[in-house]
Amino acid sequence: MRRLLPATDVPGAPPSGTLPETAAEVDLDLLYAYPPEVVDAGRPWLRANMVSSLDGAAQADDGLSAGLSSPADKRIFGVLRALADVVLVGASTVRAEGYRPAKPQAAYAAARTAAGRPPVPVIAIVTRSLELDFTTPLFTEAEVPTVVLTGPECDPDRLAAARKTADVVIAGEPGATGVDMGAAVDALAARGWTRLLTEGGPHLLGQLLAADRLDELCLALGPLMLGGAATRITNGPSPDVPRRMELRTLLEEDGFLFARYVRNPTG
Ligand SMILES: NC(=O)c1ccc[n+]([C@@H]2O[C@H](COP(=O)([O-])OP(=O)(O)OC[C@H]3O[C@@H](n4cnc5c(N)ncnc54)[C@H](OP(=O)(O)O)[C@@H]3O)[C@@H](O)[C@H]2O)c1
Repeated sequence: MRRLLPATDVPGAPPSGTLPETAAEVDLDLLYAYPPEVVDAGRPWLRANMVSSLDGAAQADDGLSAGLSSPADKRIFGVLRALADVVLVGASTVRAEGYRPAKPQAAYAAARTAAGRPPVPVIAIVTRSLELDFTTPLFTEAEVPTVVLTGPECDPDRLAAARKTADVVIAGEPGATGVDMGAAVDALAARGWTRLLTEGGPHLLGQLLAADRLDELCLALGPLMLGGAATRITNGPSPDVPRRMELRTLLEEDGFLFARYVRNPTG
């Protein structure tokens, strides 16, 4: 793995002019650290981690994202999970990709526990329908109870079923079946989970963007031209004004680019 940007020094990183050339020298924990001045002050920082083909597809031919990924993408995926308090994911991605509970990672679990955090991030699923299989390991074998985020007017029978195995959070306007994304982010932060990571999918990310709650995008761009009609990494309402982002870091391995963009504070 090569670090292409920043070319200037960042705290703790090797001096410019001696950019690291090997994976061992790229400190992913440092490059992807959440901003302590935000998260330690009790405010949420929402990061998205998405992968795209070179021509903008968010799904491979089989409709899933795994075919777009690479070993380096999987390493970064693991680091981002290890740094997060909660992984926010749309119910369609959970169903399509057969989500399982997060696994403790030996390199991080002890440090997380020592800091008073659970060894793994909580998985938090956004759903209107509550059409989830509550008998699967995602609910029955999670180290920390899986959260289900839904709206106030959800189906009462399904809500009762969810409450038997999941930690249910209602986050929406009175009378709505859908989740209000701002309320959802704030509800998670109110529990002390300020390091937020969303793994999509595109519908969820589009709504987080429209609600102007996206602080950071970690985008893996794979060297594939897929064609076809796959969606982009966002698929939903447009924000009132386009969200401007700033490039902070750029890594490369095997032709894949790993860019980290944060919101431009002026717009
Ligand atoms: N390229 C990537 O990085 C990437 C990442 C993730 C996923 N994917 C791919 O993307 C596809 C799935 O993405 P998707 O965009 O179709 O779906 P998604 O964003 O994963 O999930 C959409 C679902 O989330 C729930 N939802 C969304 N907004 C809601 C709201 N405001 N209130 C309540 N519930 C809400 C609904 O669940 P209910 O239907 O239960 O009501 C909705 O059907 C899969 O093929 C997956 O492989 C790609």
